[in-house]
Amino acid sequence: MNDSIRLPRLTRAAGHASALLVLALTGCSGPVNNQQGYMPEQPVAFSHAVHTGQYELDCQYCHVGAEKSRHAGVPASSVCMNCHTQVKTDSPEIQKVAAAVAANQPIEWVRIHRLPDHAYFNHASHVTAGLECQTCHGKVQEMVRVEQAEPMTMGWCLDCHRKTAAEQVSAPPPSAPRTGELLAMSIQAPAPEPLKAPRILQPPTDCSSCHR
Ligand code: HEC
Ligand code: HEC
Ligand code: HEC
Ligand code: HEC
Ligand code: HEC
Repeated sequence: MNDSIRLPRLTRAAGHASALLVLALTGCSGPVNNQQGYMPEQPVAFSHAVHTGQYELDCQYCHVGAEKSRHAGVPASSVCMNCHTQVKTDSPEIQKVAAAVAANQPIEWVRIHRLPDHAYFNHASHVTAGLECQTCHGKVQEMVRVEQAEPMTMGWCLDCHRKTAAEQVSAPPPSAPRTGELLAMSIQAPAPEPLKAPRILQPPTDCSSCHR
């Protein structure tokens, strides 16, 4: 009805174009705390579905930091060449990797998961607690292109921390053999293994553990 609030065609188109430009620019700089579902295009079409699904490479073959340091890390291109000096050398995607190695230039992978600087997360403490990569990253072995599977908000972290703590409190203590059973064992068999109490996991919920 009111034509005066309608933008002329040209301006609208221009507005649309600049909105896209802003999106593209923030995409390039790797925005902090990306959303669930974020799945940027990568400079080389590396597929986790092929390498870890089809060929069953272990995650830590490439992400060597996951078990011993804060960051899992992304492999150097030289790791790719362990195989690709032989495999698919005629592929244009592999030739990009070979060129990067020859020029001693890193491949500029677009970072997908990134917490803001004020939040502290450490891979080693989670991986050595027995958590699988997939708990937090989804079915990476089926991903042709990696996507952020979980929200990775503070609420998401705390949910698991509270749930883990609650489950351990409600879990029954490990059962010890009763006297009769002990006696039977001592007569028949070598001494039973001493009972090992499972390690108590203590995921923190206080602010300063995650905001240091
Ligand atoms: C052959 C090497 C290789 C193997 C094996 C591998 N990855 Fe990766 N991974 C990469 C490379 C290269 C990237 C960066 C490019 C990309 O995102 O695809 C990456 C990226 C990722 C990312 C996203 C990192 C970010 O930017 O936030 C996650 C999560 C990840 N990998 C998890 C896994 C898991 C889980 C496994 C095992 C199921 C695995 N990877 C096995 C090489 C590998
Ligand atoms: C352990 C051996 C191995 C390692 C390490 C490895 N790849 Fe591969 N890659 C393969 C195999 C096997 C294929 C599948 C070849 C086929 O389809 O015949 C493949 C396929 C590919 C393809 C698809 C090529 C095409 O055109 O079909 C790309 C791209 C690729 N790899 C990139 C990488 C990158 C980047 C890395 C390092 C982060 C890497 N690979 C590390 C074994 C490896
Ligand atoms: C408890 C949840 C959790 C588990 C388990 C986990 N990750 Fe992560 N991962 C994260 C979070 C959160 C980030 C973002 C960290 C940041 O920005 O500081 C991340 C980031 C990454 C990244 C990119 C940044 C970096 O640290 O190098 C890679 C690669 C990655 N994870 C791979 C893995 C692999 C491989 C495993 C299993 C061996 C794994 N993750 C297990 C939560 C997890
Ligand atoms: C799926 C469950 C799970 C999720 C999701 C998770 N955690 Fe944890 N977290 C744990 C467990 C289990 C421990 C206890 C480890 C132990 O006691 O050995 C832990 C321990 C910690 C610790 C103490 C050890 C250390 O590294 O200093 C911090 C800090 C922490 N988590 C931060 C985070 C943050 C930040 C997030 C979200 C980005 C997160 N966690 C998501 C399960 C989880
Ligand atoms: C288990 C880890 C963990 C604990 C414990 C934790 N936080 Fe956070 N917090 C995070 C992560 C991860 C983020 C970043 C993601 C987000 O904004 O949700 C965050 C974000 C925040 C933000 C910024 C929110 C925003 O909108 O930008 C504030 C403020 C904050 N936390 C305060 C607190 C306070 C206060 C406590 C204690 C009562 C606390 N946090 C405990 C992990 C934690």
